[in-house]
Amino acid sequence: MASVPSLASTVQQRLADALSAALPEAGMADPSPRPSGWGDPMLRRSDRADFQANGILALAKKLKGNPRELAVKVVDAIPANDVVKDIEVSGPGFLNITITDKAITETLAARAADDRLGVPFAADAGTTVIDYAQPNVAKEMHVGHLRSAVIGDAMVQILEFTGEKVVRRHHIGDWGTQFGMLIQYLIEHPHELDHKEGDAAPEVSGEEAMSNLNRLYKASRALFDSDEEFKERARRRVVDLQSGDEQTLALWQRFVDESKIYFYSVFEKLDMEIRDPDIVGESGYNDMLDETCRILEESGVAVRSEGALCVFFDDVKGPDGNPVPLIVKKSNGGYGYAATDLSAIRNRVQTLDANTLLYVVDARQSLHFKMVFETARRAGWLNEKVKAHQLAFGTVLGKDGKPFKTREGETVRLVDLLDEAIDRATAVVREKAEKVGLTEQEIVENGRYVGIGAVKYADLSTSAVRDYKFDLDQMVSLNGDTSVYLQYAYARIQSIKRKAGDRSPLAHPELPLAPAERALGLHLDQFGEVLAEVASSYEPHKLAAYLYQLASHLTTFYDQCHVLSADNAPEVVENRLFLVDVTGRTLHRGMALLGIRTPERL
Ligand code: ARG
Repeated sequence: MASVPSLASTVQQRLADALSAALPEAGMADPSPRPSGWGDPMLRRSDRADFQANGILALAKKLKGNPRELAVKVVDAIPANDVVKDIEVSGPGFLNITITDKAITETLAARAADDRLGVPFAADAGTTVIDYAQPNVAKEMHVGHLRSAVIGDAMVQILEFTGEKVVRRHHIGDWGTQFGMLIQYLIEHPHELDHKEGDAAPEVSGEEAMSNLNRLYKASRALFDSDEEFKERARRRVVDLQSGDEQTLALWQRFVDESKIYFYSVFEKLDMEIRDPDIVGESGYNDMLDETCRILEESGVAVRSEGALCVFFDDVKGPDGNPVPLIVKKSNGGYGYAATDLSAIRNRVQTLDANTLLYVVDARQSLHFKMVFETARRAGWLNEKVKAHQLAFGTVLGKDGKPFKTREGETVRLVDLLDEAIDRATAVVREKAEKVGLTEQEIVENGRYVGIGAVKYADLSTSAVRDYKFDLDQMVSLNGDTSVYLQYAYARIQSIKRKAGDRSPLAHPELPLAPAERALGLHLDQFGEVLAEVASSYEPHKLAAYLYQLASHLTTFYDQCHVLSADNAPEVVENRLFLVDVTGRTLHRGMALLGIRTPERL
């Protein structure tokens, strides 16, 4: 599979060559062409060029030369070629560059020849361990868990596509003192988690599993709060759990298993693949906790303070001005969330050979990660070669702008939310179903893809750190920056291809392009660069924005260029079908990287 350099990088290369020919003393200065103008089809083309290079200004400053004179020298040094159609010096020394139509079509044709659409693999690929989709055992999942799963899954797909080795870790909350209470209750009420009597492999639905767990949680909590003796037994049960008592561990495992039934049902509804070996919860690091603390204490990174083992930071202080430490080991000897995360870092760096640790976690945990990462740096587990980054996301708000809750003030059940999205989407799909000729089965399937796509896209299309409003009406709207708009754009392409009959997509580089065709072609050419940018900045919303712009370019193209019109010469039809085809494949690939399906007919 050949990777195809973008037109921007081809131009960049031409300019760099010309620069070093014209001014050997300049070394390899970067003339940096930036896409300009063609991002917006409303602009008059005569006003703007395809690219503008401004690097000469800085260079002239460095060489103490006149920028315009320098620019002219560079332009003169560019040999005649069939990529750059026009290059002119403008303003104080910018270069405005226009690409030939031929180069646009030829580059796209090279992309189209390849399943990866010519997108290169990253030159500096390494191993990223990504921590995402980490719900908690015996607890209902909430919208925050949804965000981590959706954003994390998109990052996994994008990183893998660019050639990164990705190890997934679902750091589920499966350890802690609350299990003492739950397990003790189960010991005293042994049949509470039993599935249908006599059933060898009982089929429990995710919802049943969760309602079992909820019931048990409530009942044990009530007892814990009202019965001092039960409370004491529950406390002792925590000690049994921590010391690895077999019966206690077996019951703990039942809670984990029951919860996984529920987790998997939610992930399946989300159309997301979560694999069992990748679920390494907090308990998975228990064996490392002692050693982690010993290393931190012996190296002086952590110190004893009021009986606890703590790490201090100059810039982390409480409201009273006193330092707030990261507590690695509590004064009662117990380990908490931080010790587990520090042990997980050691494991991911030393055993999984990670170069990058990526955490898709709520922004409200940012201070925790800041302290954990700094501790790991002081301990030498993180360094120049191994970096950690929190892809922090904001809170999901209701339409009223307050944290998302039900009318009764309770946390919204994720499953209800997804079902509602699917219902709304199915209604939208049904409205057009007759015209498109969809079967009932297709309506149901598309309803799922559109509904789940809507939820994912809403999450992925705004910058992750920002809070966002969960507004189902907006999410399934056909107009605007929604997944269903993109899904319709794709389905329309497929429909045109079906209508084309025996006329096939075929590139004709010799044909002149209309402005809307150029704009579309130049945008398509950027796909690889956008992916590289998203893979390094961890900003999937930039891919969403790119795809939305692509669909907008397509709409303008349809308005201005008829594809299957009888007035078109056969090669014009073929070339336009070709443009439409590459657009469809780019949309399909881009949406898949975001975890969103693109039905063929909608
Ligand atoms: N289970 C945690 C929660 O629900 C998220 C875990 C994030 N990952 C981590 N390595 N701490 O908030």
